Amino acid sequence: MEKGNEKLYFMENLINRIEELKREKGVVILAHYYCRPEVQKVADFLGDSLALSVKARDIDAKTILFAGVHFMGETAKVLSPEKKVLISNPEATCSLAESCKAEALAEMKKKYPNALVVAYVNTTVEVKALTDICCTSSNALQVVQSIPEDKDILFVPDKNLGSYIQKITGRQNMIFWDGGCHVHEKFSKEGILELKKAYPEAKVVVHPECRGEVAELADYCGSTAGILSYCGANDCDTFIVVTEPGILAEMEKKYPAKKFIPAPSVEGKACNECEYMKMITLESIIACLENESPEILLDEEVRQKASKSIEAMVKVG
Ligand code: 13P
Ligand code: SF4
Repeated sequence: MEKGNEKLYFMENLINRIEELKREKGVVILAHYYCRPEVQKVADFLGDSLALSVKARDIDAKTILFAGVHFMGETAKVLSPEKKVLISNPEATCSLAESCKAEALAEMKKKYPNALVVAYVNTTVEVKALTDICCTSSNALQVVQSIPEDKDILFVPDKNLGSYIQKITGRQNMIFWDGGCHVHEKFSKEGILELKKAYPEAKVVVHPECRGEVAELADYCGSTAGILSYCGANDCDTFIVVTEPGILAEMEKKYPAKKFIPAPSVEGKACNECEYMKMITLESIIACLENESPEILLDEEVRQKASKSIEAMVKVG
């Protein structure tokens, strides 16, 4: 058998084994768009972080395997404490979540006792427990707009998303945490401008975790789900994609007649991958299903506090 075919055959076997284990154990797999294409194939539901949290809460299943980074599994468990939430690789964290520790946030809150804490969902459950209202990149604008104008906002941990929302709303009384996503901060403005020269008709779609000078180049700036819808609805057939390239698999599946070009990083890499998302593999999913572990377990008091800030967000939209 040729090497390429051998690899495909091996992958098909792993996928079949996962399907068998899912049926046997009654497990539902939720996966984020940034997962490897083969991991996306075994997902029962694919989505952005907001859609997946809500799906985890509403789905009729005893056990969920969350194919996504750690905070996503935690969010699912916060909203569905009665469900068993498995996570195939607990080492798969997130640079944004890591940049904001609960102890440091508690100190910062002392400096701004009257401010309302808005936390991006890319945070640990302990940070969410110190938060008034969470947001995702899908609903950050609505969340900020839902807060009375005269109330100061302490926005954590993504200063890029926060600044982007500040720019749209013109809201001045926002205080930012100094955090950023190491993947999205690395997209290169010059690299995108070069691509624009080569594909002048292309639309630029950007995730708001990117730096301001990159977001400024966007024809559309929004969450992964928002980007997908924009590409589908827009007449244009070429898009420069300024977010994690895992999303290309879903774009190409949904819109096979369109062309999607991944934007380069400042280091000149053609694709700018999140190494945490790529830690979730078919092999790690099989081990997790076989052992029904690792499982997300949370302190009940912390979970209840975090739940309030997530539910407050879900109410807004
Ligand atoms: P979405 O909210 O668009 O799914 O993004 C999550 C994320 O981790 C982006 O880096
Ligand atoms: Fe976190 Fe960035 Fe990876 Fe998203 S892409 S999971 S924000 S490190």
